Amino acid sequence: WLAKSGKRWRPFLALCAYEALRDDPEAPAPADFRKIAVAVECFHKASLIHDDIEDNDPLRYGEQTLHAAYGIPIALNVGDFLLGEGYRLIAESNAPDARKTAMLRAAAGGHRSLCTGQGDELAWARSPKPLPAQPGLDIFRLKTAPAFEVALRLGALYGGAADSVWQVLHECSDALGIAYQVRDDMDDLFGDPPPTLPVCFGPSILLALAHERVEGRADGDARRLLDALWRSPALARQKAEELRAVLTALAIETAARQMLESYREKAIRSLQPLENASLKGLLRRVIAKIFNELET
Ligand code: IPE
Ligand code: MG
Repeated sequence: WLAKSGKRWRPFLALCAYEALRDDPEAPAPADFRKIAVAVECFHKASLIHDDIEDNDPLRYGEQTLHAAYGIPIALNVGDFLLGEGYRLIAESNAPDARKTAMLRAAAGGHRSLCTGQGDELAWARSPKPLPAQPGLDIFRLKTAPAFEVALRLGALYGGAADSVWQVLHECSDALGIAYQVRDDMDDLFGDPPPTLPVCFGPSILLALAHERVEGRADGDARRLLDALWRSPALARQKAEELRAVLTALAIETAARQMLESYREKAIRSLQPLENASLKGLLRRVIAKIFNELET
């Protein structure tokens, strides 16, 4: 399942951070770095397997999710295995002990933050109600950004980067994670070809923007549909066509695209204080690549 599919952005980011920040910029990346890159992907894939269970999502990569194919017990166990595997790979890398400890701490912190974000979303799902855009973005900050942050930090730490890059990597991951998740929410509704919606719809940023737009307006079909969807997210699948039409009429795709752009720009701007020109340039190019590729 690990080898099956995926864009591999996170291991790629880890390698970029390592290459830009390593002690000797001329030395090739050691084969040992693969352990770190694979660990990063193990953590990410574990989070996807568990997220698909939590959201009761039947499809990923256009195919059945692991739990849909084999059942929840097996999927839980594969996710847990991948977490253990990720920590094992870091622990068995050749990095000096102090760097290794810092990498394990960074991975554990990211994992903890992800679970807090998933927890906030699950808490919302217990009694769903309209969620304004801001708390929605806070959930993205917790659930999506850490995987990028862990990737960048692990690469940087393996290379022996100075502590001074921490805050920049944090801010960059934060904005990148939010932009990435906004893009993912847009794809959920307006992907080409139109995707099958999950059985249970999460607190989508598009719905949040739409709700803000119709709030306070006289009762109308759009408002009624949005209210119903916020309260029973399971309706989203049945009402997918109506929902797309309402969001189009409210120009929500444009609003979401502007939000995505502003966070993408914020991610680039956050790199400004970096003294390391090589890391700055590399991360800029990677961010452009992540979003250009997703645009097409
Ligand atoms: C999926 O991430 C979860 C989100 C944060 C949107 P990706 O879409 O990057 O998943 P892979 O790497 O292709 O598997
Ligand atoms: Mg989820």
